[in-house]
Amino acid sequence: MLDALKKSVARSALDYIPENSIIGIGSGSTIKFFIEELSTISKHIKGAVSSSCISEKWLKNFNIPIVDLNTLNSLDIYIDSADRVNYSMEMIKGGGGALTREKIIASVANKFLCIIDKSKYVSKFDNFPIPIEVIPMATKSVSREIIKIGGIPKYRKNFTTDNGNYIIDIHNLCIKNPINLESKMNNIPGIVSVGLFCKRKADLLLVSYFDKVKLISR
Ligand code: 5RP
Repeated sequence: MLDALKKSVARSALDYIPENSIIGIGSGSTIKFFIEELSTISKHIKGAVSSSCISEKWLKNFNIPIVDLNTLNSLDIYIDSADRVNYSMEMIKGGGGALTREKIIASVANKFLCIIDKSKYVSKFDNFPIPIEVIPMATKSVSREIIKIGGIPKYRKNFTTDNGNYIIDIHNLCIKNPINLESKMNNIPGIVSVGLFCKRKADLLLVSYFDKVKLISR
């Protein structure tokens, strides 16, 4: 059921791809559907900057040229999904563990188009776990700091990021002010990236429902 919603939102995203552009590509199952859709118009784009090794593999399967971010000054658009999006277009990301590269690409993109199914669009983040990417030697020290701010850190077992780091999912945090929480956690030594995307939030949001795909912009 959710797969059908992911597919339909992925298809709708094609309408927002500028001709002859280089686009940023996120990670995850929604993006896998998007890459399949993108392959149908691959001649209309110059290439893609990928946020993960797995997305890169999927892009290569469809012969979509991979572009090194270091060769670009900016990107027209970054397309990615999220784990949760609130009504201010702030996001929780990192379910797939690719948050650091996703944040880097999002930071240089002129537009962030987020594509989600309706189950992820929420008024509040409540206690939804926040993933953080952590330097391996700092897992304990970071965990102690997380406990001090009321979080319960859970190590993601048997998972190493594309950057050779670990993921900790933080449970039990009261997320009243997401942007403040993002900058507070960004200051903890050893945290590479925080899965709160509030400072750089989405510009455009496509949400799929059973009968339609709704566009929300800010
Ligand atoms: C990966 C992400 C994904 O965008 C997020 O986890 C959503 O994934 P899916 O499309 O599989 O539901 O942030 O790091």
